Amino acid sequence: MSDAHEPDKAQDVQGAGSGTPDIEHILEEAVPEGPARKFSHTQVGRLRDVLARLYALRRTIRFYPLDHPATAQVIDELYPAITRYHDEGVDLPITFYEDELLLGEQLLAEDSVLFDQLIRDMTALNVGTLCFKAGLQRDELLRFASVLSNDSESVEKRGGIKALMDVAGLTHIEVSPVTVLRETAPAGDARKAARESYNDAVDLLRELDHLVRGNETLNVPRVKASVRSLVDNVLANRYAMLELSGLKSYDEYTFYHSVNVAILSLALGSTLTKEYRFLSTLGVGALLHDVGKMTIAAETLNKPGPLTSEEWVSVRQHPVLGAEHAALTPGLDKASLVVIFEHHMRYDLTGYPQQVSSRPQHLASRIVAVADAFDAMTSKRSYSSPRMQSEAIEVLARNAGTALDPTLVRLFVNLMGAYPPRSIVRLSTGETAIVVSPSPRDPLRPVVRIIANAVGGMIDPVDVDLSNPEVAGAREVRACLDPTGVNVDVADFL
Ligand SMILES: [Fe+2]
Repeated sequence: MSDAHEPDKAQDVQGAGSGTPDIEHILEEAVPEGPARKFSHTQVGRLRDVLARLYALRRTIRFYPLDHPATAQVIDELYPAITRYHDEGVDLPITFYEDELLLGEQLLAEDSVLFDQLIRDMTALNVGTLCFKAGLQRDELLRFASVLSNDSESVEKRGGIKALMDVAGLTHIEVSPVTVLRETAPAGDARKAARESYNDAVDLLRELDHLVRGNETLNVPRVKASVRSLVDNVLANRYAMLELSGLKSYDEYTFYHSVNVAILSLALGSTLTKEYRFLSTLGVGALLHDVGKMTIAAETLNKPGPLTSEEWVSVRQHPVLGAEHAALTPGLDKASLVVIFEHHMRYDLTGYPQQVSSRPQHLASRIVAVADAFDAMTSKRSYSSPRMQSEAIEVLARNAGTALDPTLVRLFVNLMGAYPPRSIVRLSTGETAIVVSPSPRDPLRPVVRIIANAVGGMIDPVDVDLSNPEVAGAREVRACLDPTGVNVDVADFL
């Protein structure tokens, strides 16, 4: 909806930097040292056999006893698939890291998608790296199967995966635990961590812009690391992130807009589920939703007036162009591509690209559509001034059931409150304040930062929870103010 006349500001490419640990860095710790860390193309290709049989083994032993012929058959197939590597003089180290699979140090983009359930199963058992070493015997594999037959709870109860492996006497199968990368920031540093995550994501967008314009594929591990950090920060401190999502840049509109849409989408998505994979897919789709605009001429995107029909056709291509570019990038989750493709399709499916079937928009696309509309409306564009946040909420509500999913709009309004963070408000006392966060108790009474007294004199900012009468007294929000009208730069006070 809001993107209906969406000229953008494509920008100069700047150097990118990252404070977030990337997957290569992680792997240095996760992959055990060994004599053979490089694998031939054929050896990498053959790993799919091993993974398929390993997955089959894990499934089989959940249903059949160890001495059942079905188990024996899977082991009969798995054993030679593994020892073939040993015959070729290499050990077989397989790493399961979050949603990635690696052979040695090599990231296997396609297998990571194909074997996502196996990755989940192994990481749930705290198997980070699994190394089958030369000298492995068939009966050792059978004892390993007995270890794998435990669920994560019983593994934990029995002292962890390593203890179980020791008891089973597995000398040629080694496991290293999952490397924990995500450090939870202490509460005092939550704002700093949120800010770093935000800046890192903006840097990433600048980098992607450079890659897309050079017709190069996207750097998937970098995208996923950035999204991981956004997810962590949204889960750890939703309001510090929501506060940042009000940051705008006229010059680098697309970059900031994409990051804001990712944060708003994750905040909304995390009210539905805390499931990490879903949030990760949602975050990637949201961050890349407008990647197709990076191939559209800047003059068209920045045009202040109405677009010609030709220009309009070109702008409407961006979901398809974006999805096509992303589809050529191995390792991106399919659902993320769907978000890029569908984000302008509208809830009633009357948007673009035109839908041939009546399949509803994917949940992640519907979430991103709400976030996209809100951020676009509250940003200054070449053809329009920003709307006040409270006004944007009203527009969302008016479009619930047509352009936008009504349930998601309701959840978004609950999340942001009647007065979203960064709104400037006049209180019943005449004081001027900035909304810091909605109150969980009363959407009409947010936590505010009072910045000016009743006669307009600036004061040392003081935070007041309007839902707590003991501190707020009779104060309540009287009106939302237009930031341009009151000459206040919200960023100075947050
Ligand atoms: Fe878009």
